[in-house]
Amino acid sequence: MKDYTLTRRDFLKDLGMIGGGAMLLTSPWLSVFADTAATRKEKCRLAVIGPGSRGRFLMNFLVQNPKVEIAALHDIYQPSIDEALKIAPQAKVVSDYRKILEDKTIDAVVVAVPLNKHFQIVMDAFDAGKHVFCEKTIGYNMEECYRMYQKHRSTGKIFFTGQQRLFDPRYIKTMEMVHAGTFGEINAIRTFWYRNGDWRRPVPSPELEKFINWRLYKESSKGLMTELACHQLQIGSWALKKLPEKVNGHGAITFWKDGREVYDNVHCMYVFEGGVKMTFDSVISNKFYGLEEQIMGHLGTVEPEKGKYYFENVSPAPAFLQLINDWENKLFDTLPFAGTSWAPETANENHGEFIIGERPKSDGTSLLLDAFAEAVITQKQPANIAEEGYYASQLCLLGHQAIEEERTLTFPDEYKIDYLNHRSIKNTPEV
Ligand SMILES: NC(=O)c1ccc[n+]([C@@H]2O[C@H](COP(=O)([O-])OP(=O)(O)OC[C@H]3O[C@@H](n4cnc5c(N)ncnc54)[C@H](O)[C@@H]3O)[C@@H](O)[C@H]2O)c1
Repeated sequence: MKDYTLTRRDFLKDLGMIGGGAMLLTSPWLSVFADTAATRKEKCRLAVIGPGSRGRFLMNFLVQNPKVEIAALHDIYQPSIDEALKIAPQAKVVSDYRKILEDKTIDAVVVAVPLNKHFQIVMDAFDAGKHVFCEKTIGYNMEECYRMYQKHRSTGKIFFTGQQRLFDPRYIKTMEMVHAGTFGEINAIRTFWYRNGDWRRPVPSPELEKFINWRLYKESSKGLMTELACHQLQIGSWALKKLPEKVNGHGAITFWKDGREVYDNVHCMYVFEGGVKMTFDSVISNKFYGLEEQIMGHLGTVEPEKGKYYFENVSPAPAFLQLINDWENKLFDTLPFAGTSWAPETANENHGEFIIGERPKSDGTSLLLDAFAEAVITQKQPANIAEEGYYASQLCLLGHQAIEEERTLTFPDEYKIDYLNHRSIKNTPEV
């Protein structure tokens, strides 16, 4: 295979980043590829293990990257294979994933099976010398996540996780602003994800219920915490550059009492050093507020999903509101109210500013995958990518455990890894 020299400009251009604005050039994850002379091969050959709904979504981006070849597919459900072949018809279908791992021509695997099936496949893949992209949440419990991360460290193979917000231009810019102090001291982060739907998939025959609707059953899923919170909790540690110290929470099935085992209504509170808080809450019986991460500083608030930020010092209430206030104050000022005046404290009419111009076409998934391919080709692991994914998984799993045990849990020391200087590796990287 031909080797050639990669310049930073080439890489960014290849990734479609040139023309995407100066902000993307400062993407925190890409500096590893910025060497003016990184030697690499031209293409990487990937296998997709579990090309279900998410796996095929990823494949749709992967096939657009001229540096990627989807060489093989493995799934235990024929309809998934049939659909995946429509996207990558040249891919070889392999009935046992270990055959993929034995194939020396395959560089990396993309693992998109249900949560409880990630661990064994990822561990085997690292052991076989493959680079790994594993969908979030990476492990079914904290121990699995830890062992997966340490396996990545001990084998030295590339490890990416499905945390696409890391590559979403709105989030990258948001974090730049937060870290520059634009919104002042961040004391609270509210994250929420609301949907209105039963979260079920159609099942062709009853014996496939737990296989198809794996998200709804405890043996294969931790529900809203592993499926949704994993994305949003990562925003807190990214913004604050810290891990929360403890978490408590509550979960219940309040609406979809249809035989599911995982909660349809959860709320968790994570507490950082000094009492700074991050909440996650989710219900799937009302979608009015949608999803958001609201990062709140004493000077302003940023909402990356909406793509907007708001400063605290906004213009006064519209004249007519003031008129009502004055009128009400006059009307009631003989009554024994606690305060001398009254003003509405409902959210003000602040339309804010856009974080970046237009809403980006992608949520970061395509760039995340392109960066993974580039990492496989150059054999360079971007700093902090695996660690962000690792902690996102650990935080949602710890929150889930706090809910289950109905008590406040602190982040266990044995699962802290060396990241952001304040975390230490307690165990050796060997697993
Ligand atoms: N990053 C994101 O935004 C995002 C979004 C959705 C899903 N996900 C993650 O992707 C993963 C898959 O979710 P999904 O919605 O695609 O589920 P899915 O059920 O649609 O797909 C899972 C696929 O794995 C196959 N499978 C099941 N057990 C297997 C096994 N033992 N060996 C091989 N194949 C097996 C199934 O047949 C199916 O094709 C989950 O970890 C989920 O959390 C991530």
